[in-house]
Order: sequence, then C-alpha cells, then structure tokens
Amino acid sequence: MSGGSRGSWSGHAGFILAAAGSAVGLGNVWRFPYSTSQNGGGAFVLVYIAAVLAVGVPIMVAEVLLGRSTQRNPVGALRALAPGGGWPLVGMLGVVAGFVILSYYGVVAGWTFDYLFMSLTGTLQSGASMQSVFESLTGSPLRQICWQAVFMLATVAVVARGVEAGIERASKVLMPLLVAFLLVLLGYALTSEKAAEGLSFFLTPRFTDLGWDGVLAALGQAFFSLSLGMGAMITYGSYLDNEYSVLRSGCLIASMDTLIAVLSGLVIFPLVFSFGLDSTVYGPGLVFVVVPEALLRMPASAMLSTLFFALLLFAALTSAISLLEVVVAFLIDEFGWSRSSAAWGAGGLIFALGIPSAMSGDFLGWADRLASEVMLPVGGLLIALFVGWKLPVERALAGYSGAGGSGGFTLWRLCVRFVAPVAVVVILLQKIGLFG
Ligand code: PHE
Repeated sequence: MSGGSRGSWSGHAGFILAAAGSAVGLGNVWRFPYSTSQNGGGAFVLVYIAAVLAVGVPIMVAEVLLGRSTQRNPVGALRALAPGGGWPLVGMLGVVAGFVILSYYGVVAGWTFDYLFMSLTGTLQSGASMQSVFESLTGSPLRQICWQAVFMLATVAVVARGVEAGIERASKVLMPLLVAFLLVLLGYALTSEKAAEGLSFFLTPRFTDLGWDGVLAALGQAFFSLSLGMGAMITYGSYLDNEYSVLRSGCLIASMDTLIAVLSGLVIFPLVFSFGLDSTVYGPGLVFVVVPEALLRMPASAMLSTLFFALLLFAALTSAISLLEVVVAFLIDEFGWSRSSAAWGAGGLIFALGIPSAMSGDFLGWADRLASEVMLPVGGLLIALFVGWKLPVERALAGYSGAGGSGGFTLWRLCVRFVAPVAVVVILLQKIGLFG
C-alpha cells in the first residue's frame, strides 16, 4: 500500500470509516440541532443541505484528491504541487484551525464524558431538572477542565499509536450502533405528543427567519460537519491508495454525515415541542437538556443514557482524532518529530488553549464561530481555488482518476472552479455587509 512508514488504511473501507468517523461527531448531534434552533428551523436545514451538495461535496473531493496524490500533510501537499508560492500557507491556516477547533471541541466532548459518568452513577436519574444539571456543569470550570483533560488524554493516546490501530475496528461497530440508537429515539420522538409541531419547525422553510447570518451559519455548519476547509480530509486522503473513485467516496461520506445530522434533528425537535421547551434558550445545551429529558421517561433509562453518551463520546473521539492528526502529520512531515512527541506536545498545547472555553461559554461560542464561519469557509475557498485554478487540469485529472476512471470529472471541476468559490465569496461578503 502507498502510505509506507507513514501508515495507511486497510483498504478503501478503512478510509471510508475513518473519514466518516471524522465527519460524524458532535457537529451532527450537538451542533446541527442547536444551530438549526437558533436560525429559525426549516430554511436553515434547506440551505445546509444545498451547501453540502454544492460546496461540501466538491471540496471534499478536492481535499481527498490533494492528499492522495501527494501523500502529504496539508502544508506539504500544497508545497509539493506548487513549490515556491504562498499556497502552503493555506495548509498552515488548516493547522491553526485544527488547534482552535480541538481546543473547544475537547470541552464539549468533556460534557459528554460528564453525562456518561452521571448516567453510570445514577446522578442523572436523581430527579433534578436537566436544565439545572447542565447549568451546574457549565457553571463549574474545574469540572469541565477535568473532563476535557480526560478526553484530550484519550485522543492523544490514540493518535500517538498511529492511524491504523484500533480506530477502524471500533468504528465499524460503534457507528452503526449510534445510528440504531438514534432510530430508537426517533420512534419515541415521533410518537410524542406534539411531534407534528416539532417536525414543522424542522422541515418547513420560513426564509424570513433566516437572513444572511443564518445562511453563513448553515455554510459554516456544512464545513464543520463534513470536516472540511482545514485539511483533515487532505490528511486522511494522504493515507489512501489510488484505486478508488474520489467522487464516490466523497458522496458516500457526505451522505452518511448528512443522514445522521438530519436524524438528530428529527429526534430533537419533536421532543422539544412535546416537552414544552423553548429550544432557542438552551443554545449549546440543547442536546444535553432535551435528550436526557426524553431518556429519563423511558424504561431502563440509566442504561439507555449510558449507552447514548458512550456512543456520542466515541463519535466525538473519532472526530477529535482527525483534528489532532492534521497537526501531528504536519509536525512529523515538516519537522521530523516523532509521532508520539508530536501527539503529546500538540495535544498538551491544545488542552491549555481550551481552558478559556471551559471557563466561559461566551468564549467557547466565539471560538466556535471564528472557526466555522471564518477559518473553515476561507480555508475551503482557498482549497477550491487552488484545485480549480492553480492546479493544471492534467494534474487535477490524474489525481481525480488515480488508477481508476474519470467519471464526473467535468461536473466536479465546474463546481470547484465556479459554484463553490462563488457561493462562499458571496455569503462571506454579504455577511460583512459589502452588498449593502
Ligand atoms: N466534523 C466533526 C464533527 O462533526 C468536527 C470536525 C471539524 C472534525 C473539522 C475535523 C475537522 O463533529
């Protein structure tokens, strides 16, 4: 296989699992429902899906292609294809985005850990309202920092051992299990009292509630959820050999990711309305209030909440691994660090950077928006411009086809050259008010 001593996936299925593991995470179950609730519901969902198709999939393909054809980290990949220019800085932006995202991602994943622990010890079932449970957690910086530390240790421990060990095998079982669990919750949610109102909020587009802020939020959510714009897919693509269709891989990963996000929305919103909650007030706490509230009403609730938070934690872990892997691959390739010093060094620094997010929800929200609404869209735009305009068409075609066919190349290239860049630029410019 092509990865050599850098490590590689055990074939195509391994790559798909790892890339889907990167994409599916807190972005789907935590961030998507909460963003949807804050941006008016159905219209947000519609713009989100359009962004996945028109911008997300083409950029996903571009990233995998860049990684696969260079077998390098994001900085090295761009340098290999365009030596001497400023393009490697795009890879650097991705490495920085990895630092920023993982810093607060570790805090939210820490909440998941705390809820898992509370489910195991029965504290979650002790009768307190879920809102007060969530508030007491987020009101305690120390408690959050401890769980964040535990989560970061787990992430570093996996990344230090290398890409092929363990992640794939665990993903194969646990991801389908997460989907199955969501389907069970879906059954409960859809038969709940005010399910129809929840579905109408989630599925009926009311564009007056959206605005350009909402459009940018939907675009940012697409980048975040698909792990795009910062080189995670370049890095994972660099461990992939070249027999498989990058287009088919990209479509497969994007559809799994979108399916799980939509499933989460279909679960959350009927429950929100049936419980008479006001989804807009919970913000980042939405899933952590609504889902346990539902689980408490089910039989064997301690077992179910343990299972749910364990699965969510695992989904978060496979995403965090990919975030750290971007930084680690960069340190290994560019500075010759050993894998374990890179993982421990970068992991330690990222943990420290995350402490302000554990101390202040406002800071966490700010870092989250900086990453998803600025860094990832700008990174994705530059990657699209690089692959669409800078990379000679023969090289793009060779990278796209690998050892296989070139089906879909023309349509894909049209999207990376025009559709995706124009969409991102228009939305960003709207946001800063350039169109009045
Ligand atoms: N896609 C991940 C999620 O949905 C988060 C992520 C973003 C991972 C960017 C890697 C890169 O949780």
